[in-house]
Amino acid sequence: MNRIVHGDNLEVLRGLTAGSVPLIYIDPPFNTGKRQSRPAMKTVQDPEGDRVGFGGKRYRTELAAHTASTTGYGDSFADYLGFLRPRLEEAHRVLSPYGSLFFHIDPREVHYCKVMLDGIFGRECFQNEIIWAYDYGARASKKWPAKHDNILWYTRHPEHYTFNLEATDRIPYMAPTLVGARKAARGKTPTDVWWHTIVSPTGKEKTGYATQKPLGILERIVRVHSNPGDLVLDFFAGSGTTGAAAARNGREFLLVDENPAAVAVMEQRLAAHLPVRAEKSRKPARKRVVAAPKKKSTRKSIVVKTVAKTRGSRTKPGALPPTDPTTT
Ligand SMILES: C[S@@+](CC[C@H](N)C(=O)[O-])C[C@H]1O[C@@H](n2cnc3c(N)ncnc32)[C@H](O)[C@@H]1O
Repeated sequence: MNRIVHGDNLEVLRGLTAGSVPLIYIDPPFNTGKRQSRPAMKTVQDPEGDRVGFGGKRYRTELAAHTASTTGYGDSFADYLGFLRPRLEEAHRVLSPYGSLFFHIDPREVHYCKVMLDGIFGRECFQNEIIWAYDYGARASKKWPAKHDNILWYTRHPEHYTFNLEATDRIPYMAPTLVGARKAARGKTPTDVWWHTIVSPTGKEKTGYATQKPLGILERIVRVHSNPGDLVLDFFAGSGTTGAAAARNGREFLLVDENPAAVAVMEQRLAAHLPVRAEKSRKPARKRVVAAPKKKSTRKSIVVKTVAKTRGSRTKPGALPPTDPTTT
């Protein structure tokens, strides 16, 4: 089921079968300025609320009294979580019993998102906070330069989940002379700190999509946390790095993005892995697709369609995180 879907991810997620997806990776955008143009939601404690949080306390979500006219981090924070929550609840619903969610975020937002994800998945289903460390771009001189992203790993079940450690790439020992030649040559398995360079601005991997993440990071996740033939879902897909990692490792992909530019990049990037290209509809139909096969093939096709935009969706197409390393 290799598919690229153009549209709001909340609608797409709502259409997926519960318990059907073994692996989800997402890298959502966050942009304070753009968030303020959306209605901000806030979570309020309410014994009658429809959500259960820590210690069994119940909460409801309501529209914040002040929205577009306000400025400031707090207001944006409330809106950001309000945008993410229904999507993460859907992600939890569609994950298969042994499935994993990887949530890519930055150090400013990670703590708030961790608390929210703990509430949705249960703290016992939090497995790791992976630190992706890189070193590129301008260096702050008034504080330590922030040169890492955070990737939170949650599983659907606290103890039973896919973890094929033997499938990981191996990394060099820091002190190879201390471990002997044989071990040094083989390398070691990674920890929860992943040193990996950003996508080179001039390298072959670069697609031109500003927030593209490195294939090496996604390939490690795909290999270790899914099995051949599994479906991998990315509903903030951007340039389709998750799809590329899935295809290169014999997995299937479902990629969703609301930005037409992202869809165009993905179509081009993934064409080599698939026998069929998606076509653009000439009229602004809700469903704009379905490509004719280039030649007869038994392989599956990419299908691109437009999904109606969900009310209250947070980002404008292409809205990107200001601190994304690939933009520095
Ligand atoms: C940070 S980028 C993802 C980059 C991706 N990981 C890569 O390697 O290229 C986030 C993407 O989420 C998309 N997006 C934002 N809100 C969305 C929504 N409600 N539905 C679908 N896609 C959305 C944006 O268009 C953007 O392409």
